[in-house]
Amino acid sequence: MLNEKDENILWHTHHVSKDERAKIKGQKPCILWFTGLSGSGKSTIANMVESKLHNLNKHTYLLDGDNIRLGLNQGLSFSDADRVENIRRIGEVSKLFVDAGMIVLTAFISPFEEDRNRIREMMQEGEFIEVYVDTPLEVCEERDPKGLYKKARKGEIAEFTGVSSPYEKPQRTEIHIQTENISVASASEKVLEYLEKKGYLRC
Ligand code: ADX
Repeated sequence: MLNEKDENILWHTHHVSKDERAKIKGQKPCILWFTGLSGSGKSTIANMVESKLHNLNKHTYLLDGDNIRLGLNQGLSFSDADRVENIRRIGEVSKLFVDAGMIVLTAFISPFEEDRNRIREMMQEGEFIEVYVDTPLEVCEERDPKGLYKKARKGEIAEFTGVSSPYEKPQRTEIHIQTENISVASASEKVLEYLEKKGYLRC
């Protein structure tokens, strides 16, 4: 939202364009937006997708929930308002990376449909690819890789997604991965196939 001071700030157009930056990388920049519950496998799949893209000489960057919360978004809590701000900032950072010509991968719970859609709308057609890592709560809870579900059930963590804070399932997702029926390797292959088929891996 604009305040008085913002009215005196104008977007500067640079000599080198997004298309030119992308062209020398031989790719179409985009955001692969992984969303899903904690422990659903977002980071694991995103990690493997990034490796595969890297092996194809594609220029990528992976923004990951826990890592960003340890730096850029340090101090943000898990209240609804702070989650909105967390995702807003990630959206803005991702947009800058796309402007730089990169294929950006993001792995955040991003529980609210409105926030995800706001980022989609901020981007140009085809630049936002939502990847729903669909793992049932029971399975995430059973895996509990960081022991956080156990703590949340004991009341030691407040506002834990799926336990005491909502997760809104995506309604307009481009790639739907049901992790119960598919390995990490096949899941990442599915993402690669989408990128290949839709022409993101060439200029
Ligand atoms: S988001 O909801 O704001 O998108 P984000 O993806 O950044 O969440 O961070 C989620 C990670 O933070 C989880 O994978 C988990 O490791 C950790 N975490 C700590 N507390 C919570 C909580 N209350 N709810 C969800 N995740 C939490």
